Amino acid sequence: MRIAILGAGNVGGGLGRAFAAAGHDVVFGVRDPESTKTQAALADIPDAVAASPGDAVEGADVIVFAVRPVAINATVAELPPLGGRLVIDAMNRFDAEPGGHSTTQDLAAMLPGAKLAKAFNTIGFENYATAAGRAVRAAMFVAGDDADAKRVAMDLAAQIGFQPEDAGGLANAKVLEEMVKIWLALSQAHGRGVAFAVSEG
Ligand SMILES: NC(=O)c1ccc[n+]([C@@H]2O[C@H](COP(=O)([O-])OP(=O)(O)OC[C@H]3O[C@@H](n4cnc5c(N)ncnc54)[C@H](OP(=O)(O)O)[C@@H]3O)[C@@H](O)[C@H]2O)c1
Repeated sequence: MRIAILGAGNVGGGLGRAFAAAGHDVVFGVRDPESTKTQAALADIPDAVAASPGDAVEGADVIVFAVRPVAINATVAELPPLGGRLVIDAMNRFDAEPGGHSTTQDLAAMLPGAKLAKAFNTIGFENYATAAGRAVRAAMFVAGDDADAKRVAMDLAAQIGFQPEDAGGLANAKVLEEMVKIWLALSQAHGRGVAFAVSEG
């Protein structure tokens, strides 16, 4: 698949490396292809390219949001209409109000008709590249109301070594953002390699 990743920082670059290792074509959509972060991401993925967000999503099978939330408006403003397109949101925003909207719900409002799922947000970015080598598979929670988007996000998660888990509908995207607070607390004791896992009884 051709995967457009909007943002080439920790998350964008980390997912780009993992998706490329799984055989996908990666194009980064960024505000500045010459930025240090973008150049670092490109250096690690020989065949990846960087373009404007609008050019990056052209012809992409999947579009991944991995910018800082402050950049959502500016990034969306550069995109063509994404109705019917598969969009995965890997971002987190820690509002003062836990009941506030998730970045995924904001994208749903800004991208009418897009097929959206939340994924890849509940673990530190360092773990995307190492997921396949873990003794116990780390869970990757996927939330959303669109079955196609969830299936694609879960397939991608499995391809890079996670145990994909259906975490419910779009309303749970905020729950997944709040879970990161637990992950951060756990990482204090266990380090940033810590991950959630699901155990069946
Ligand atoms: N860090 C983690 O372990 C982790 C894990 C899961 C989810 N997340 C979430 O994922 C999101 C990205 O985090 P990150 O750690 O990847 O951040 P990051 O390393 O700072 O990268 C952020 C990306 O957003 C772009 N950006 C920042 N401000 C911008 C602006 N005003 N306009 C346009 N682009 C802008 C940056 O572009 P430039 O290169 O041009 O600055 C960069 O490509 C956050 O919501 C974060 O909470 C983080």
